[in-house]
Amino acid sequence: MRPFYVTTPIYYVNDKPHIGHAYSTVAADVLARYAKLRGRPTRFLTGTDEHGQKIEERAKELGKDPQAFVDEMSPPFAQAFRELGCDFDDYIRTTEPRHEAKVQELWKILAEKGDIYLGDYEGWYSVADEAFITETELKALDEVTRSKVVRVKEPSYFFKLSEYTDTLLEFYEQNPTFVQPEGRFNEVKAFVKEGLRDLSVSRTTFTWGIPVPGDAKHVMYVWLDALMNYMSALGGPAKAGEEALYDRFWPNATNDADVVHIVGKDILRFHAIYWPAFLLAAGLQPPSQIFAHGWLTVNGEKMSKRYGNFIPPGPLVEAFGADVVRYYLMREVGFGQDGDFAHKQVFARYHGELGNGLGNLLQRIVASILKNEFGGEVPAPNAIGDEERELVAVAEKAAAAAAQHLDLVGPHRALDAIFELVAAANRYVDRTAPWALAKSGDKERLATVCYHVLESLRWLSVMLAPFLPEKTRALREQLGLPPISPTEALDQWPKAGEFGGLPAGTKTAPGVPLFPRFDPKDEAAILEKLGANKPAEPAPKAEKKSKEKKVDEKKPEAAEAKAVAPTETKSAAKAEAPSTIVFDDFVKVDLRVGLILEAEAVPKSDKLVRCQIDLGEEKPRQILAGIRLHYAPEALVGKRVIVVANLAPRKMMGLESHGMILAASDTEHGLSVLRLEKDIAPGTRVS
Ligand code: MSP
Repeated sequence: MRPFYVTTPIYYVNDKPHIGHAYSTVAADVLARYAKLRGRPTRFLTGTDEHGQKIEERAKELGKDPQAFVDEMSPPFAQAFRELGCDFDDYIRTTEPRHEAKVQELWKILAEKGDIYLGDYEGWYSVADEAFITETELKALDEVTRSKVVRVKEPSYFFKLSEYTDTLLEFYEQNPTFVQPEGRFNEVKAFVKEGLRDLSVSRTTFTWGIPVPGDAKHVMYVWLDALMNYMSALGGPAKAGEEALYDRFWPNATNDADVVHIVGKDILRFHAIYWPAFLLAAGLQPPSQIFAHGWLTVNGEKMSKRYGNFIPPGPLVEAFGADVVRYYLMREVGFGQDGDFAHKQVFARYHGELGNGLGNLLQRIVASILKNEFGGEVPAPNAIGDEERELVAVAEKAAAAAAQHLDLVGPHRALDAIFELVAAANRYVDRTAPWALAKSGDKERLATVCYHVLESLRWLSVMLAPFLPEKTRALREQLGLPPISPTEALDQWPKAGEFGGLPAGTKTAPGVPLFPRFDPKDEAAILEKLGANKPAEPAPKAEKKSKEKKVDEKKPEAAEAKAVAPTETKSAAKAEAPSTIVFDDFVKVDLRVGLILEAEAVPKSDKLVRCQIDLGEEKPRQILAGIRLHYAPEALVGKRVIVVANLAPRKMMGLESHGMILAASDTEHGLSVLRLEKDIAPGTRVS
């Protein structure tokens, strides 16, 4: 089996852990647990990034010695991750000697190859991001961030990055999934194609870093130092046979190891450009994949201490338990996309999919019927029919799909697939009505039904184990099954043809509900305690644009999306949007996929187009849109757009409009109707 090495970014210790950090780490933990279930030799690394100007300044501000400061700040990260059930195999700190020695080794290799030279750096430096900033990038920054960027002029060593432009492009070509999601890879390639400049890799105006070998006036650029953590934690670079972990888990010509770095999109450039360039220059193999996930906002706002909405994971874990937080983080947001963390949604998912879906399934069968009818023992199934065959087919499909998605780093899709089985099993219970069978005394059929539900639950206890390690353990306990052994190198993932592995006669052990309901009063108290009802502090205007936009997202800010029914557009543009809305308000807007069947210009209007749109209803809807200046009506036919379907009808130019098409515009590009990349069915709800 291919060895699997998964890493998180190492976290800056200038501040305390928050759910953004938890997000990367939980995702890596899910992948590691899944790989272990599949019997792959697996290693999971996380840790802290402890050098650099930012940390030195923070320590100074607090009047602390930098080493004492980082020694105090690093353990809470490890603790927060452990509390979230993250079972990392190693925790690296960049101030550890094992790391420092390896960074110096890499430096020496690069210097010996002639890829490092001494020069002078003059330009901008963002201490917050520990990044060198070009004039163009500086202009794109918002005021607050720009005010923190400093002008630097100092002697500096440079890495000849410019000479690796073609090597990198070739490497990308040969490794078409090196960066995921694909759209991010395209951005990286486009950036590299523009040509790279040499990279300053040392600093002389502060001292908190790893000394440059042979020149004690310089400390290494913190990103060169930090990126090496992935390799130093394995004891690399090392000569073959010198270090077992490195030989086994870092890719080389013979081991076929698979290395996935999970990172946030804001730090993609460092991982997808600098890191492989250093490694290729040093004659070392780059990792297999960099997966860039999106950023979380909190109740619709950027998360930051300045907004008073910085969410530490601890209180959430205390309120909901680690598994629920893990589940929520992995389920709520498509991995790779930006998304929102909303406290109310945690409750919604808790009571919905987890409680009513999974918890109930167990409760309905094990706690009542099985206990009363079969003395708590798993009965042997009897003759099966279409209902059973259907359920088994769903289970097999779910297991195959979930595995495929997890192999491709799509935890949210895997959960979607797994919950198809939860839904199917609940439907099966509804249809077969075991309580009625019990009443009528049809024990034979009842045995078959119970068995199929229990076996579905067993499959779920395996497939959900990477996401819900604690709850699946409890689930298995109630099913009378031993915990899954994470150390046995066996492929334990359920597969087609294996439905029916639960031994008849197994003694179940009904226990407390897996997801007991919160009383509405407790729910309100928890929300209050977590500060979820408190509106976020109004953001200072200039900081509205988020940090992640500036270095890796070079595109100019998109103008706000707006609707294109002309009258609404004006008033919507004028109305000041509230800083946050609760989820319940958002769902009041019925957004649907619409397929434009017909489109024609409205006579005597230079703006309006009259569209007939299929919204999956009996008849197409007539919707007027003020887009004629930007689209020829005939070009709209066949397009799938997003429609506000529950807007009160209104009359324009004597014609009724029954909805609104969404679009965005800016002065540079004009107006663009929001379109779907895939042929999603008309009428599908957009959320
Ligand atoms: N120290 C560097 C990483 C070096 S890796 C060799 C760093 N540290 S960080 O603490 O600032 O950020 C670590 C990770 O947390 C990044 O991947 C970043 O994207 C992630 N997040 C920080 N805030 C986040 C959100 N609000 N949402 C999701 N992830 C976010 O960068």
